[in-house]
Amino acid sequence: MKPAHRLTLTLILSACLLGAGGLAAADRPTVAFTAGQSKAGMALYRASCAACHGSYLEGGTGPALTGFGFRVLVRDTKATVGELLRGITQQMPLNAPASLTHRQYTAIMAYLLSKNGYRATGHKLTFAAAQRSLASPVRPTPSLSPMPVPSSPLQFHREVLPGPASPMPHG
Ligand code: HEC
Repeated sequence: MKPAHRLTLTLILSACLLGAGGLAAADRPTVAFTAGQSKAGMALYRASCAACHGSYLEGGTGPALTGFGFRVLVRDTKATVGELLRGITQQMPLNAPASLTHRQYTAIMAYLLSKNGYRATGHKLTFAAAQRSLASPVRPTPSLSPMPVPSSPLQFHREVLPGPASPMPHG
């Protein structure tokens, strides 16, 4: 784990304000965005974010924005789509904060959602709606449960990855 990031801290603080318990998965509103938005967001991401977060959102100078690392981050910070979008809009790109338009940040948010389990719908995501959204940036599914359940990806990896050869010591 890297040392706490400033933005992460912001997310934690906002999460506390929302109430540590959070909402039950079923109560969480879902987010809608169009395929056009996530496509536009992909181009914007590549131009403004990929240099630090990786072409595949796998992370680099900045943290990963998809995959297991991001899921853990979202779980730990209890970040919502709204908090993430506010953080991105105010603080990213790190070398030029708030340099994109709200429409562009919204498109990037749609792209991030498309890379974290959400499907595009016919409904456009607006900046205002995304900012208010209490949905998780990682689509909640049983296998993505924030609770440590036996089928969690970490355990899965432990099961499928060949462990180091451990010869039984003689004697
Ligand atoms: C110059 C490098 C750089 C660029 C460009 C950049 N980021 Fe970041 N980003 C970082 C670093 C470093 C962090 C962690 C430190 C921090 O949060 O201040 C970060 C943190 C984040 C986080 C928060 C993850 C967490 O820790 O909670 C998100 C989300 C994010 N960036 C999204 C973006 C998006 C979207 C763009 C493009 C608009 C972008 N970043 C562009 C370097 C960058």
